[in-house]
Amino acid sequence: MTQARISIDREAVIAPINRRIFGSFVEHLGRCVYDGIYEPGHPTANEDGFRLDVVELVRELGSTTIRYPGGNFVSGFRWEDSVGPREQRPVRRDLAWHSLETNQVGVDEFARWLKLTGSELMMAVNLGTRGIEAALDLLEYCNHPSGTALSDQRIANGTAEPHDIRMWCLGNEMDGPWQTGYMSADDYGKLAARTAQAMKAADRTLELVVCGSSGSTMPTFGDWERTVLEHAYEHVDFISCHAYYQEHDGDLGSFLASSLDMQYFIETVVATADHVGNKLRSKKKIQLSFDEWNIWYLKEHQASDEVNDEWRYAPRQLEDVYSVADAVVLGNLLITLLKNHDRVTSASLAQLVNVIAPIMTEPGGDAWRQTTFFPFSVTSRLAKGEILRPRIDVGTYATAAHGDAPLVDAVATTDGDRSAVFLVNRSQTESIEVTIDIAELAVVHVDEAVTLWDDDVYAKNTLADQNRVGLKTLDGVRLADGVLTVALPPVSWSALALS
Ligand code: AHR
Repeated sequence: MTQARISIDREAVIAPINRRIFGSFVEHLGRCVYDGIYEPGHPTANEDGFRLDVVELVRELGSTTIRYPGGNFVSGFRWEDSVGPREQRPVRRDLAWHSLETNQVGVDEFARWLKLTGSELMMAVNLGTRGIEAALDLLEYCNHPSGTALSDQRIANGTAEPHDIRMWCLGNEMDGPWQTGYMSADDYGKLAARTAQAMKAADRTLELVVCGSSGSTMPTFGDWERTVLEHAYEHVDFISCHAYYQEHDGDLGSFLASSLDMQYFIETVVATADHVGNKLRSKKKIQLSFDEWNIWYLKEHQASDEVNDEWRYAPRQLEDVYSVADAVVLGNLLITLLKNHDRVTSASLAQLVNVIAPIMTEPGGDAWRQTTFFPFSVTSRLAKGEILRPRIDVGTYATAAHGDAPLVDAVATTDGDRSAVFLVNRSQTESIEVTIDIAELAVVHVDEAVTLWDDDVYAKNTLADQNRVGLKTLDGVRLADGVLTVALPPVSWSALALS
């Protein structure tokens, strides 16, 4: 069996864990909101029409901050349509996904839904078709306590307390030609700076996210970040990163090494942001908000006609069904986010329900967990305290897309009493025996050892077979004299909880 050695240094602290790293994303897209989190006729629906079986799964998933209402949708969003008496709300065309939007779920309902799930709201403003005034109005409606036109409107609409939203995204993917109202970096940087300046005049404690690149393969990647930050650096706190991965043309080896691209993406944006900051002799460091990341079979969706010329309500769009391999890659991407948590202090798994999501629903029927649900929920539950960078001594394999990739990746966390190690084996053929020197963690007991793997790396959970894939016990774990020995199955993601 191939061997790997890992040692964990208690002093190699990357950062204390900020729970925002376990964020997610709800967009008015396809069946994410309608027939996803919201279905008034469903047997589990509450008085707002929210499905409580979905709420339960969201709580189990352990997602924290939730970005809303888009995504590409936000670039056509008129927030005023989404508040007030439901029967008076207009139906609008959503140009981003060529759908009809009923506005039956809006800002106030969504804030109530977040309370059920125990999550924080991260709001995006429309800088595609609107601008500073609409952003300021939404901010006043949401956050001002009372005694102004828009805060009193919120109160009259039934929400006495302000929503007190801390994180705000200044538009969405403004570098993308698909974005309604997309702009050059120069135009967007100026608009973002002016919007941020005005929003902070209303509340200087807001945390603002300026749009970075929609992906590391965008032709403007790097230049976009530099130009936008040259305008907006002193007004904003975060720059966004978006990345989606998929297996291309049967090249599973490259797909399993996707996190190397995420690492490259993060390092490039950090270097660019610090270059601008240093040039400006700024005292602050810009943080990264990786506010869209996931597996997405985009190529296949683009080839389909699911986004078409019809105007439909909540059509089935982007409903990827995830495999074991997808879940292993997702677990590895989460490891990468944790390993960069000194700069990536917020992240959102895109998305949450039905649309490229860990949770699926059937109208009038069940809600179930996709394969990708498991690495996210276990990591969110077990990662506590501080993140530690392990030293990993392991061989590599060649990939077409990312060069040589280490066969094993890992990260550790500890709060002193409880520790956890998260690992992936990227080998398609071999189990790997890993010895982990955990003497410095001063743990004596393995509380939990789980793995996600299957003889069929393409096994999936479906409506007909909702529990085909789940967590398995990682057999044969030994802990003796401060050394943990585990055998990681091929194409697997695993977690160990220690105390
Ligand atoms: O998450 C799906 C879409 O991906 C979002 O609407 C957009 O921001 C990105 O291109």
